[in-house]
Amino acid sequence: APQGKNTDLLLVFLFGCLSCPAPRIITLLETMDILLGHNATFICEVESRPPADITWTKNNQPIMYYDPRYRTREQGQMLIIPHVRESDNGEYCCIANNGIGEGAKSCGALQLKMKPQIKRHPSNLTQLLGSKAVLPCVTLGNPRPDVTWLKDDEMIKISDRVTILDYGTLKIHNVQKEDAGQYRCVARNSLGLTFSRPVTMEVQAPARILQVPKEKRVAFGSQVTLECNATGNPVPTITWLENGNTVSTPTPALSFDRTKALRCSLAPSICSTAGSHTAQQRR
Ligand SMILES: *[C@@H]1O[C@H](CO)[C@@H](O)[C@H](O)[C@H]1NC(C)=O
Ligand SMILES: *[C@@H]1O[C@H](CO)[C@@H](O)[C@H](O)[C@H]1NC(C)=O
Ligand SMILES: *[C@@H]1O[C@H](CO)[C@@H](O)[C@H](O)[C@H]1NC(C)=O
Repeated sequence: APQGKNTDLLLVFLFGCLSCPAPRIITLLETMDILLGHNATFICEVESRPPADITWTKNNQPIMYYDPRYRTREQGQMLIIPHVRESDNGEYCCIANNGIGEGAKSCGALQLKMKPQIKRHPSNLTQLLGSKAVLPCVTLGNPRPDVTWLKDDEMIKISDRVTILDYGTLKIHNVQKEDAGQYRCVARNSLGLTFSRPVTMEVQAPARILQVPKEKRVAFGSQVTLECNATGNPVPTITWLENGNTVSTPTPALSFDRTKALRCSLAPSICSTAGSHTAQQRR
């Protein structure tokens, strides 16, 4: 019937008019995991008659066609980001517009996959006994790396005193003599692992006298040895005084055990011996 034919024509006409102007994105953007230094390609396949202008945005900011960071192909349906770096992380959208009706838009994200890197290495340090030590280990990587620490090439034991903070920093409370040694951090994720530079922690202890020289009664003309035992790091040096005067060359009546004397600390200690000999330690 003629009426049926008219309806068909009308439908074709309507269909054509309604479908032609609106650009359609056939291939939607996807979230992409890209390794550092690799190329990222977003594909945004558009169906449109007349052909659509395709523009791209990164984090809602338009990407300029002349921006050397990006390349486009296939009339803008492909966006290529060569040698992806950290700053390329973000949301990318393509927008297709042919001047008729509303534009079409599709968005996807670029997620940088990155092997662990150490951004800030720890450095050598010297700590006073009983103080608090902080060894930084700032890492980069995606997925975010787990950080562990080695001391003298053995896995460090976590305790109340020794902790690893968020972001990998090693914190040691109440530093002990046995904390001295070589440290390095290890950053690890599913893509690999990396070590920091090894660093040395030295633990200093203030000079301290362990044993003061004992008072001794000796026969005139005989030989006497006065001992002074002390510890400290660095190893303290000492001076002996006799009646307030530095003894540079001991009198024949006195012998000084130099080996033991060298172990003495900086803290002053005065001890009398028979014959009014005085021992005192000094820096
Ligand atoms: C990235 O693209 C460049 C050309 O733009 C090519 O030379 C290089 O081989 C590509 N790199 C990778 C990892 O595909
Ligand atoms: C850290 O200490 C070690 C050994 O004490 C030394 O070999 C190294 O050069 C030091 N590193 C720095 C950066 O000073
Ligand atoms: C010094 O004192 C320490 C600790 O009491 C002791 O182990 C060491 O043998 C002493 N050294 C001397 C030379 O007396």
